[in-house]
Amino acid sequence: MTGEAGQRDLIATAARIFPGGVLSRHKLDDERQLVFVSGRGAHVTDAAGREFIDYTCAGGAVLLGYDHPGVLAALDAQARRGTHFFGLLNEPAIRYGAELLDVLPVGGQIRFCCSGAEATFNAIRLARAYTGRNKILKFEGAYHGHHDYGMWSYNRFGGDAFSPAPNSAGMAAGIGADILVAPYNDVAAAEDVFRREGSAIAAVIMEPVQRMTAPAPGYLERVRSLASEYRAVLIFDETVTGFRLALGGAQERFGVLPDLAVYGKSLGGGLPLAAVAGDPEIMALASVEVWQNSPRGVFFSGTLFGNPMACAGGRAFLAALREPDAFPPFLGRAEALKSGLARVLRKHGVDAHVIGEGPMWRLHFGDPERIHDVRATSDKDRQRAFDLGLLDSGIFVRPGGGHYFSMAHTDEDVETVLRAADRIAPRL
Ligand SMILES: Cc1ncc(COP(=O)(O)O)c(C=O)c1O
Repeated sequence: MTGEAGQRDLIATAARIFPGGVLSRHKLDDERQLVFVSGRGAHVTDAAGREFIDYTCAGGAVLLGYDHPGVLAALDAQARRGTHFFGLLNEPAIRYGAELLDVLPVGGQIRFCCSGAEATFNAIRLARAYTGRNKILKFEGAYHGHHDYGMWSYNRFGGDAFSPAPNSAGMAAGIGADILVAPYNDVAAAEDVFRREGSAIAAVIMEPVQRMTAPAPGYLERVRSLASEYRAVLIFDETVTGFRLALGGAQERFGVLPDLAVYGKSLGGGLPLAAVAGDPEIMALASVEVWQNSPRGVFFSGTLFGNPMACAGGRAFLAALREPDAFPPFLGRAEALKSGLARVLRKHGVDAHVIGEGPMWRLHFGDPERIHDVRATSDKDRQRAFDLGLLDSGIFVRPGGGHYFSMAHTDEDVETVLRAADRIAPRL
């Protein structure tokens, strides 16, 4: 049963069987709750039969859109050959791993896993094993997934400046002693942390573009040089930026190489796939022989690792990205959306800024000079009001969150947003 009544029924079932009635932390307001039934190109349809232009892009996982023909054909073919082989060698995983190492600037070796959180967790574990040190430096406001090393000072902060704050109940309290937090884009603060703690730092983990904020000129280079100087492992979490800013992600865009890089979200062409790649000396610690025979060996394993469906989808995804004309029209349309929005806001005298690198965007109501400072005040209510206006105009976004742009969005999809913004802006 679908239609309004059918959708209400599904939502009621979800409320009964899932904590909070949802699958994850993402929840729409009760009166706007909906259930997706299909995605086509850059559009989604809910169980009530309403169609939306979608700018969540499945949290960034469907960079090619929801039904790219190459991905569908690859999944169909692989489904007929076997959906999984217990983390044992399979052809799509081997071929995809080799193809990825051809294009990823970090190079080296690669291990697949299933989610961004698994990948960042294991990259950190590898760094600690490799260096024999304990401490992890992360940046305030950065997100690296749900695990006990990632969930510090993401959106709830410590009382005094940059003391790590746990962002979930149930985290192992002792881990906090090994977490260092610094403000993003602040060279002096990073230098200070290294001066004080450098010899104990196993890894610096960072989003090279933190959420929607680009690195200040020279910032990534300085973090790179500090990590090298103090022999800490530099991990770029490219879960968001990988394949999105450029084929080679933030590494290509900013010309800075980490020791390890983490990929996820779009890596599997929309299926659950993530990976850690990089320095073969560090990656070698994940070899089963090293794990069995050396105290430095790292257990980095899972039943669903290297899933052939996800790797087959990923191969088709990568093939589409490697087409010579894949990026320019996509990035051009994303820029048209962002510059068009800025024009509409100016026209209506709204004091907001359109922020985000490449195909990432959202409105920011606050001091543009302090976008990198997650403690700076911004008017989240007006940001949400704008997003709710889009949602009510048939444009699906996560209210108050960051938005994406896919290769399936058309000029018409851009124009529709600009027309909606023109109606919403006077109300802001
Ligand atoms: C930068 C970054 N790292 C890691 C993760 C965690 O990935 P996952 O949700 O697949 O566990 C996310 C998820 O949004 C992310 O944005």
